Amino acid sequence: MKYIEAKNYNDLSRKAANILSAQVILKPDAVLGLATGSTPIGTYKQLIEWYEKGDIDFSGVRTVNLDEYVGVTPDDPHSYRYFMNTNLFDHVNIKKSNTNVPSGTAVDMEKECERYNNLISELGGIDLQLLGIGHNGHIGFNEPGQAFEKMTHIVELGESTREANKRFFDSYDAVPHYAITMGIKAIMQARKLVLIANGSDKEEIIKKAIYGPVTPEVPASILQLHPDVTVICCFKD
Ligand code: GLP
Repeated sequence: MKYIEAKNYNDLSRKAANILSAQVILKPDAVLGLATGSTPIGTYKQLIEWYEKGDIDFSGVRTVNLDEYVGVTPDDPHSYRYFMNTNLFDHVNIKKSNTNVPSGTAVDMEKECERYNNLISELGGIDLQLLGIGHNGHIGFNEPGQAFEKMTHIVELGESTREANKRFFDSYDAVPHYAITMGIKAIMQARKLVLIANGSDKEEIIKKAIYGPVTPEVPASILQLHPDVTVICCFKD
Protein backbone atom coordinates (compact mmCIF):
# COMPACT_ATOMS: atom_id res chain seq x y z
CA MET A 1 0.00 0.00 0.00
CA LYS A 2 1.32 3.43 -0.95
CA TYR A 3 0.36 6.21 1.42
CA ILE A 4 0.62 9.85 0.34
CA GLU A 5 -0.19 12.88 2.48
CA ALA A 6 -1.18 15.72 0.20
CA LYS A 7 -0.38 19.36 1.06
CA ASN A 8 -4.01 20.45 0.62
CA TYR A 9 -7.22 19.47 -1.19
CA ASN A 10 -5.95 20.88 -4.47
CA ASP A 11 -2.80 18.82 -4.22
CA LEU A 12 -4.82 15.70 -3.32
CA SER A 13 -7.07 16.26 -6.33
CA ARG A 14 -4.11 16.76 -8.68
CA LYS A 15 -2.35 13.65 -7.43
CA ALA A 16 -5.47 11.49 -7.86
CA ALA A 17 -6.19 13.00 -11.29
CA ASN A 18 -2.57 12.29 -12.31
CA ILE A 19 -2.98 8.59 -11.56
CA LEU A 20 -6.31 8.42 -13.42
CA SER A 21 -4.88 10.30 -16.37
CA ALA A 22 -1.75 8.09 -16.48
CA GLN A 23 -4.06 5.08 -16.63
CA VAL A 24 -5.95 6.54 -19.59
CA ILE A 25 -2.74 7.50 -21.40
CA LEU A 26 -1.31 4.00 -20.93
CA LYS A 27 -4.59 2.30 -21.88
CA PRO A 28 -6.92 4.59 -23.87
CA ASP A 29 -9.83 2.12 -23.54
CA ALA A 30 -9.30 1.67 -19.80
CA VAL A 31 -12.19 0.71 -17.53
CA LEU A 32 -12.30 3.29 -14.76
CA GLY A 33 -14.28 2.61 -11.61
CA LEU A 34 -15.58 5.97 -10.39
CA ALA A 35 -16.90 7.30 -7.10
CA THR A 36 -19.21 10.06 -5.93
CA GLY A 37 -19.22 12.22 -2.79
CA SER A 38 -17.56 15.58 -2.16
CA THR A 39 -14.00 14.24 -2.19
CA PRO A 40 -13.63 13.31 -5.89
CA ILE A 41 -15.12 16.58 -7.19
CA GLY A 42 -11.68 18.27 -7.32
CA THR A 43 -10.20 15.24 -9.08
CA TYR A 44 -12.90 15.41 -11.76
CA LYS A 45 -12.40 19.19 -12.13
CA GLN A 46 -8.70 18.62 -12.72
CA LEU A 47 -9.39 15.94 -15.32
CA ILE A 48 -11.78 18.31 -17.13
CA GLU A 49 -9.09 21.00 -17.14
CA TRP A 50 -6.53 18.63 -18.63
CA TYR A 51 -9.08 17.42 -21.18
CA GLU A 52 -9.71 21.04 -22.23
CA LYS A 53 -5.96 21.54 -22.66
CA GLY A 54 -5.84 18.48 -24.91
CA ASP A 55 -3.87 16.34 -22.48
CA ILE A 56 -6.43 13.54 -21.97
CA ASP A 57 -8.70 11.83 -24.44
CA PHE A 58 -11.73 10.04 -23.00
CA SER A 59 -13.13 8.82 -26.33
CA GLY A 60 -12.23 5.19 -25.66
CA VAL A 61 -12.68 5.17 -21.88
CA ARG A 62 -15.35 3.01 -20.24
CA THR A 63 -16.56 3.69 -16.72
CA VAL A 64 -18.46 1.87 -13.99
CA ASN A 65 -19.65 3.68 -10.90
CA LEU A 66 -19.71 2.18 -7.46
CA ASP A 67 -23.24 2.83 -6.35
CA GLU A 68 -26.64 4.51 -6.64
CA TYR A 69 -29.56 5.29 -4.34
CA VAL A 70 -32.53 2.94 -4.66
CA GLY A 71 -35.70 4.72 -5.83
CA VAL A 72 -33.90 7.76 -7.25
CA THR A 73 -34.26 8.30 -11.01
CA PRO A 74 -31.19 9.14 -13.14
CA ASP A 75 -32.47 12.65 -13.91
CA ASP A 76 -33.01 13.46 -10.21
CA PRO A 77 -30.27 15.88 -9.07
CA HIS A 78 -29.76 13.64 -6.00
CA SER A 79 -28.86 10.63 -8.11
CA TYR A 80 -25.28 9.55 -8.58
CA ARG A 81 -25.91 9.35 -12.35
CA TYR A 82 -26.77 13.06 -12.29
CA PHE A 83 -23.67 13.74 -10.16
CA MET A 84 -21.40 11.97 -12.65
CA ASN A 85 -22.95 13.71 -15.66
CA THR A 86 -22.66 17.18 -14.15
CA ASN A 87 -19.28 16.75 -12.46
CA LEU A 88 -17.45 14.91 -15.24
CA PHE A 89 -19.17 13.22 -18.17
CA ASP A 90 -20.90 16.32 -19.62
CA HIS A 91 -17.56 18.15 -19.78
CA VAL A 92 -15.28 15.62 -21.51
CA ASN A 93 -15.41 13.62 -24.74
CA ILE A 94 -16.51 10.37 -23.12
CA LYS A 95 -19.31 8.49 -24.91
CA LYS A 96 -22.31 8.42 -22.54
CA SER A 97 -23.02 4.89 -23.74
CA ASN A 98 -19.64 3.88 -22.29
CA THR A 99 -20.54 5.19 -18.83
CA ASN A 100 -22.32 2.94 -16.36
CA VAL A 101 -24.01 3.63 -13.05
CA PRO A 102 -26.16 0.95 -11.43
CA SER A 103 -29.88 1.66 -11.78
CA GLY A 104 -31.72 2.58 -8.61
CA THR A 105 -35.09 2.24 -10.27
CA ALA A 106 -34.96 -1.16 -11.99
CA VAL A 107 -38.21 -3.13 -11.60
CA ASP A 108 -36.24 -6.13 -10.39
CA MET A 109 -33.31 -4.92 -8.30
CA GLU A 110 -31.85 -8.42 -7.87
CA LYS A 111 -31.66 -8.73 -11.65
CA GLU A 112 -30.04 -5.29 -11.81
CA CYS A 113 -27.30 -6.50 -9.43
CA GLU A 114 -26.71 -9.52 -11.65
CA ARG A 115 -26.69 -7.33 -14.78
CA TYR A 116 -24.10 -5.01 -13.20
CA ASN A 117 -21.83 -7.91 -12.20
CA ASN A 118 -22.03 -9.33 -15.74
CA LEU A 119 -21.34 -5.92 -17.22
CA ILE A 120 -18.11 -5.54 -15.22
CA SER A 121 -16.99 -9.01 -16.38
CA GLU A 122 -17.89 -8.24 -20.01
CA LEU A 123 -15.82 -5.05 -19.83
CA GLY A 124 -12.87 -7.21 -18.78
CA GLY A 125 -12.80 -6.04 -15.16
CA ILE A 126 -11.86 -2.67 -13.69
CA ASP A 127 -8.38 -1.30 -14.43
CA LEU A 128 -8.46 1.41 -11.80
CA GLN A 129 -11.06 2.01 -9.10
CA LEU A 130 -11.29 5.39 -7.39
CA LEU A 131 -12.70 5.24 -3.86
CA GLY A 132 -13.82 7.67 -1.19
CA ILE A 133 -14.42 6.60 2.39
CA GLY A 134 -17.35 7.16 4.73
CA HIS A 135 -16.85 8.14 8.38
CA ASN A 136 -17.78 4.61 9.40
CA GLY A 137 -15.22 3.13 6.98
CA HIS A 138 -17.64 2.32 4.17
CA ILE A 139 -16.38 2.13 0.61
CA GLY A 140 -19.02 2.42 -2.09
CA PHE A 141 -22.02 1.81 0.13
CA ASN A 142 -20.57 -1.28 1.81
CA GLU A 143 -21.60 -0.58 5.37
CA PRO A 144 -19.83 -2.02 8.44
CA GLY A 145 -20.67 -5.58 9.35
CA GLN A 146 -21.45 -6.84 5.86
CA ALA A 147 -19.77 -9.92 4.46
CA PHE A 148 -16.53 -9.10 2.64
CA GLU A 149 -17.18 -11.41 -0.27
CA LYS A 150 -20.20 -9.64 -1.75
CA MET A 151 -20.58 -8.66 -5.38
CA THR A 152 -23.14 -5.98 -6.40
CA HIS A 153 -25.99 -6.02 -3.91
CA ILE A 154 -28.68 -3.96 -2.21
CA VAL A 155 -27.75 -2.45 1.12
CA GLU A 156 -29.73 -0.76 3.86
CA LEU A 157 -27.95 2.51 4.69
CA GLY A 158 -26.89 2.99 8.29
CA GLU A 159 -27.94 5.98 10.36
CA SER A 160 -24.47 7.60 10.26
CA THR A 161 -24.32 7.32 6.46
CA ARG A 162 -27.79 8.82 6.04
CA GLU A 163 -26.83 11.55 8.53
CA ALA A 164 -23.59 12.33 6.63
CA ASN A 165 -25.39 12.40 3.27
CA LYS A 166 -28.35 14.50 4.37
CA ARG A 167 -26.42 17.62 3.34
CA PHE A 168 -27.29 16.75 -0.25
CA PHE A 169 -31.03 16.41 0.52
CA ASP A 170 -33.73 18.65 2.00
CA SER A 171 -33.77 16.72 5.27
CA TYR A 172 -32.58 13.53 6.97
CA ASP A 173 -35.93 11.89 6.20
CA ALA A 174 -35.48 12.57 2.50
CA VAL A 175 -32.28 10.49 2.35
CA PRO A 176 -33.04 7.11 0.75
CA HIS A 177 -32.94 4.07 3.02
CA TYR A 178 -31.46 1.71 0.45
CA ALA A 179 -28.72 1.75 -2.16
CA ILE A 180 -27.31 -0.58 -4.78
CA THR A 181 -23.54 -0.92 -4.50
CA MET A 182 -20.66 -2.83 -5.94
CA GLY A 183 -19.57 -5.21 -3.21
CA ILE A 184 -16.21 -5.64 -1.54
CA LYS A 185 -15.41 -8.60 -3.76
CA ALA A 186 -16.00 -6.57 -6.92
CA ILE A 187 -13.89 -3.68 -5.58
CA MET A 188 -11.06 -6.02 -4.58
CA GLN A 189 -11.03 -7.49 -8.10
CA ALA A 190 -10.08 -4.10 -9.59
CA ARG A 191 -6.45 -4.20 -10.74
CA LYS A 192 -5.54 -0.90 -9.10
CA LEU A 193 -7.21 1.07 -6.30
CA VAL A 194 -6.89 4.74 -5.37
CA LEU A 195 -8.52 5.80 -2.10
CA ILE A 196 -8.89 9.52 -1.42
CA ALA A 197 -9.84 11.12 1.90
CA ASN A 198 -10.03 14.80 2.73
CA GLY A 199 -10.56 16.69 6.00
CA SER A 200 -9.68 16.26 9.67
CA ASP A 201 -12.89 14.28 10.21
CA LYS A 202 -11.49 11.45 8.03
CA GLU A 203 -8.17 11.02 9.88
CA GLU A 204 -9.37 8.58 12.53
CA ILE A 205 -11.13 6.24 10.12
CA ILE A 206 -8.21 6.28 7.66
CA LYS A 207 -5.79 5.30 10.46
CA LYS A 208 -8.13 2.47 11.48
CA ALA A 209 -8.52 1.31 7.90
CA ILE A 210 -4.79 1.34 7.15
CA TYR A 211 -3.22 0.27 10.44
CA GLY A 212 -6.05 -1.47 12.27
CA PRO A 213 -7.16 -5.08 12.03
CA VAL A 214 -8.81 -6.23 8.82
CA THR A 215 -12.45 -6.54 9.84
CA PRO A 216 -15.91 -6.17 8.27
CA GLU A 217 -16.55 -3.59 11.02
CA VAL A 218 -14.22 -1.28 9.06
CA PRO A 219 -14.98 -2.20 5.43
CA ALA A 220 -12.04 -0.18 4.01
CA SER A 221 -9.60 -2.25 6.13
CA ILE A 222 -9.87 -5.03 3.51
CA LEU A 223 -7.81 -2.79 1.19
CA GLN A 224 -4.72 -3.78 3.22
CA LEU A 225 -4.94 -7.12 1.39
CA HIS A 226 -5.03 -5.64 -2.13
CA PRO A 227 -1.68 -5.72 -4.01
CA ASP A 228 -1.93 -2.25 -5.61
CA VAL A 229 -3.51 0.46 -3.47
CA THR A 230 -2.59 4.13 -3.28
CA VAL A 231 -4.11 6.13 -0.42
CA ILE A 232 -4.03 9.91 -0.84
CA CYS A 233 -5.07 11.96 2.18
CA CYS A 234 -5.26 15.51 3.37
CA PHE A 235 -6.35 15.96 6.97
CA LYS A 236 -6.23 19.75 6.98
CA ASP A 237 -9.53 21.63 6.90
C1 GLP B 1 -21.06 8.27 -0.09
C2 GLP B 1 -20.62 7.39 -1.25
C3 GLP B 1 -19.22 6.86 -1.04
C4 GLP B 1 -18.29 7.99 -0.63
C5 GLP B 1 -18.76 8.58 0.66
C6 GLP B 1 -17.86 9.67 1.22
O1 GLP B 1 -21.59 7.56 0.96
N1 GLP B 1 -21.49 6.29 -1.48
O2 GLP B 1 -18.77 6.23 -2.23
O3 GLP B 1 -17.00 7.52 -0.50
O4 GLP B 1 -20.05 9.14 0.41
O5 GLP B 1 -18.23 10.90 0.67
P1 GLP B 1 -17.48 12.27 0.86
O6 GLP B 1 -16.40 12.25 -0.14
O7 GLP B 1 -18.53 13.28 0.53
O8 GLP B 1 -17.00 12.34 2.26
